[in-house]
Amino acid sequence: MIMEAIKARHSVRKYVEKPIEAGAVETLRTELEKQNVESGLNIQLVLEEPRCFSAGMWKYGQFSGVRNYFVMAGPKGKVAEEKIGYYGEAMVLLAQTLGLNTCWVGLTYKKIPGTYQLREGDVVHCVIALGYGANSGVQHPLKPLEKFYEASGAIPDWFKAGMEAALLAPTAVNQQKFKFILHSGNRVGTKTFFSPWGYTNIDLGIVKYHFEVGAGKENFEWLV
Ligand SMILES: Cc1cc2nc3c(=O)[nH]c(=O)nc-3n(C[C@H](O)[C@H](O)[C@H](O)COP(=O)(O)O)c2cc1C
Repeated sequence: MIMEAIKARHSVRKYVEKPIEAGAVETLRTELEKQNVESGLNIQLVLEEPRCFSAGMWKYGQFSGVRNYFVMAGPKGKVAEEKIGYYGEAMVLLAQTLGLNTCWVGLTYKKIPGTYQLREGDVVHCVIALGYGANSGVQHPLKPLEKFYEASGAIPDWFKAGMEAALLAPTAVNQQKFKFILHSGNRVGTKTFFSPWGYTNIDLGIVKYHFEVGAGKENFEWLV
C-alpha cells in the first residue's frame, strides 16, 4: 500500500477547490497526533486557509488553489530537521493513499500568524501543501542507483529495493544530495552533501523513510 503510494506520488502544485473529505481529515489528524507524541515535533494541519499560498497582490510560485497544508513546526537543529523529513513524508504517503496530493514547500509560502501555534523553541521548518490535485504531477527524472550508494561487492535485494524507493522520494529542488552506505551485518549508514539551497537534513529524513518502506525495516539496522 505505502509502496504503491511511493510510486504514485509526485509533487502537485495546482489544486481543485474541493474540501478534504471528513473521513480523510480524521485519519490524518489521528496519525498526526500519534506522530507528534512519538517525535516531539509540533506538526499541524491547517484546513481551508488560502492566504499561505496567496498573499497580498501576487500569488507565490507556481502554486494555485492551495487551501490546506501541514505546518512543519518543531525544535531547531539537525536532529529535528531529519525528523521533520521522516514524519512529514509519512504524512505525505498516508495522504496519497487517501486520494490526496501534496507538495513539500520550503520557500514559496507565507506564514499566517494565528493559523498555527508554536511552543517555546519551535520554528516553522517548511509547509506541505495538501488537497485534491488538478493533476497528479509528473515523475522526476530517475538517475542510476549506483550514484547513490557505497557497498563492497554485490548488494542484497532488500538494499536495492530500499534504494529504488529512496530515489523516488521528493527532495528540495530535486537535489538528491544523499548517499546510503551498506556496512557488514546488514547495517546501513547515510551521508549528505552540501547544497547552497539547504534542506539536506529534511531531505535525508524523507529518503530514509522511503528506504525503510522499500527495504523492509526487519531486514536492516540504521547505523547511527
Ligand atoms: C524540503 C523540500 C522543500 C521544497 N520546496 C519547494 C518549494 O519551495 N517550491 C516548490 O515548488 N517545490 C518545492 N519542493 C518540491 C521539489 O521541487 C520536488 O520534490 C522535486 O522537484 C522532486 O519532484 P517530485 O516531488 O515530483 O518527485 C520541495 C521539496 C522538499 C523535499
